[in-house]
Amino acid sequence: MLFDERPKMKREELFDREKELNELLSNLHRPLILLTGVRRIGKTSLLLVALNESKIPYILIDARKLKENYGFKDLYYLLSTSLSSSLDRLGEVLKKIKGVNILGMSVELSWKGRNYISLADLFDHLNEKRVIIAIDEAQRLRGPLSKEIRDAIAHAYDYDRNLTFILTGSEIGLLYDFLGIEDQTSPLYGRYYYELNLNRFSRSESEGFLEKGFEEYNVKVEKNIIDDIVNFLDGIPGWLTLAGNYLVSGKSLEDVKKISIEIALNEIFNLLESKRKVSEIVSRRYRYVLKCISEGKNTWSKLFECVSEKEGTAISSNTLSNVLHQLEGMSIIQNYEFLDPVYKEACKRLL
Ligand SMILES: Nc1ncnc2c1ncn2[C@@H]1O[C@H](COP(=O)(O)OP(=O)(O)OP(=O)(O)O)[C@@H](O)[C@H]1O
Ligand SMILES: [Mg+2]
Repeated sequence: MLFDERPKMKREELFDREKELNELLSNLHRPLILLTGVRRIGKTSLLLVALNESKIPYILIDARKLKENYGFKDLYYLLSTSLSSSLDRLGEVLKKIKGVNILGMSVELSWKGRNYISLADLFDHLNEKRVIIAIDEAQRLRGPLSKEIRDAIAHAYDYDRNLTFILTGSEIGLLYDFLGIEDQTSPLYGRYYYELNLNRFSRSESEGFLEKGFEEYNVKVEKNIIDDIVNFLDGIPGWLTLAGNYLVSGKSLEDVKKISIEIALNEIFNLLESKRKVSEIVSRRYRYVLKCISEGKNTWSKLFECVSEKEGTAISSNTLSNVLHQLEGMSIIQNYEFLDPVYKEACKRLL
């Protein structure tokens, strides 16, 4: 069902994306693939379908499960659970590795002590077989262990010819930062990687998606409602799915708009909360910048004036450009515009 809110897993469940799926499948021989796109664009779905279609054994690591400033123990716990899910595909390889214990259906990876196994060693062992290592939302690996992980991936890039890394990221600038693709001191600097950037559906694709979804429920929806949803949600599949879901369950279009804005606002609050850990002032500054951009301040001088006005003092250019750079890195804005129209509506409601 198209309006199923979980990531899709099979080719026939995916609407469109035929070209992107085939492109991803035909590049699986490469060492490093990035699958990027804004939130809700369908990265995890495309990744899961490709992994299922390829028939190559894989390990799927959901980096969103890591908290900020995670440590070795958290990382190895996450790897252990990911390896446990791959036990049927990789059991033969895993059971030979020192530092990897298999207890029934679960895998434990030693993160310290005599049996400690480094990431690079783990990759070298996995290389015995053709394996895909997929890391969903890989920018979440940023933190104190960034270097360690990046070095291990760079090592595997050079020596482990049987391994392919697929990294997805909705915060695209942060993903580049993590890999150090633009940083001359990073071991991955200048290496070729294949990037598949997912775009939103076109207007006619969005209409087709909704029409097909409603058809699956035998629900007739007026053309003007479909037009209105597409105008509001701008071809982002995750929002279209959510809208379809609520409409078939009897909610009105106004309800759908309200709910999606609330969801986006909640995500913005989480961002501001994480900035509050730095300081109240920093969090407030992000709030003002988001609010001013949502009000259409789409040049440096307009934004500068708006934020300074709200702060009650002239903000420094460096500070403002730093906030903009961060918001761009998180793929929330680009060129003083929101990448997601629902985020824009949500930010208009900030105080
Ligand atoms: N091509 C598609 N066909 C059908 N449904 C899709 C498609 N792309 C995305 N969806 C639906 O949209 C929602 C978001 O998709 P998915 O979780 O794959 O996106 P994502 O980019 O990984 O999102 P996030 O950034 O939040 O992790 C899901 O409900 C999924 O089922
Ligand atoms: Mg995802």
